[in-house]
Amino acid sequence: MKRFRTMTFTLAVAALSAVAMWSASGDVSAETETGDRPVIKVPRGGGRAAFERHGCITCHMPDGRGGQNEGGYGADLRVTPLTEEQVAFIITYGRTPMGMPAFKGLIDEETIAMLAKYIKEDLRLKK
Ligand code: HEC
Repeated sequence: MKRFRTMTFTLAVAALSAVAMWSASGDVSAETETGDRPVIKVPRGGGRAAFERHGCITCHMPDGRGGQNEGGYGADLRVTPLTEEQVAFIITYGRTPMGMPAFKGLIDEETIAMLAKYIKEDLRLKK
């Protein structure tokens, strides 16, 4: 019985320190047996998949070049002068008079951030 209590105590301490370590870090991370805390990265395919799934490609084309379509003249996302934050803003609130729909409530914030990153980092024409 005494042994059981010691074990429970040890487990509680381990759990508490895990919680402390978790909250001390802003990154999403996991603890491994060796105590390493690797940062979990969202796979690169995530932004691409969302770009296709949410229909961005119908107006902006699969490579982001945009062009004339029923929505208006889709912007060329490969050369957008907007910052990543501004891109996320446009996806959220749209530019409806110009034919860019607002995706607020349709795409969650995390995915919108992923899309903005994808547009700025992967679709962007490299100079
Ligand atoms: C119905 C057609 C349509 C769809 C669907 C659409 N867009 Fe657009 N988008 C447009 C048009 C048209 C513009 C240009 C608006 C303008 O001229 O100001 C635009 C502009 C933008 C811009 C601003 C670019 C700039 O440099 O000003 C971003 C960013 C963008 N779209 C991202 C997206 C993403 C991401 C999706 C998918 C979630 C998407 N769009 C879906 C039509 C569309």
